[in-house]
Amino acid sequence: MSLKSLTKAALIVFGAAVLFGCRGSESKKPPIHLNPNMDLQEKYKPQEQSRFFEDGGTMRMPVEGTIPMGDQYLRNGADYLKADSEYYKGLDANGTPIDKMPSIERLGFKSTDALLARGKERYEIYCTPCHGSLGDGNGLVAQRGFPNVVNIATPDYKAPLGQIYKAINQGGAVMPSYAYQIKVKDRWAIVAYVKVLQKAAADPAYANAAAETGNK
Ligand code: HEC
Repeated sequence: MSLKSLTKAALIVFGAAVLFGCRGSESKKPPIHLNPNMDLQEKYKPQEQSRFFEDGGTMRMPVEGTIPMGDQYLRNGADYLKADSEYYKGLDANGTPIDKMPSIERLGFKSTDALLARGKERYEIYCTPCHGSLGDGNGLVAQRGFPNVVNIATPDYKAPLGQIYKAINQGGAVMPSYAYQIKVKDRWAIVAYVKVLQKAAADPAYANAAAETGNK
């Protein structure tokens, strides 16, 4: 082989190495950064893990009591602090369930009828699948095997109103929280309707109603 063709061959090998050699190979070293600017820098991304913060998360919770700034958020008397634990959680300052309803004015219903009608409607959407339309815990999902669904209508179930509210707001051991689906005023409306179911269950005619609805 002449020197010329040898140089040629060497050049081809070198060119191929440059072209393909750097592809696909992994390296633990940081990439060569010829122009050090702020395009590339250490930063946190949302949802990323952090080894700096104790809870292991990058995203920080707002400081307790933080309220959004700005006129548009403060319209309609929005209550961002939600400091009224009885109203928002159904619990008093010690965390004990209360046993009274907020006034229907505060809840924003025109009448008790409107409150109960709304409660019935919401109950039938969200609670019937498990607790049954009579509240006896015999809904279709329970019949299909959802465990431990409580009979909340029976006179044996003696829970203060705040406890029923809390079940909707926070859920239970296996019952999910319905706080996202059901607004505060509607939660209280459901609580009132559960009270109606309890009154009904204490009535002897209840057994007939239960038989008629097929206990669903
Ligand atoms: C997916 C099934 C399911 C749905 C839907 C459901 N629950 Fe429950 N609920 C349960 C189960 C199971 C329990 C008992 C065990 C527990 O606490 O998780 C329970 C318990 C309760 C209790 C008793 C809690 C206590 O501590 O005294 C109340 C009151 C109650 N539910 C009300 C409701 C209301 C009101 C709704 C509708 C907004 C509802 N549940 C929707 C399954 C359900």
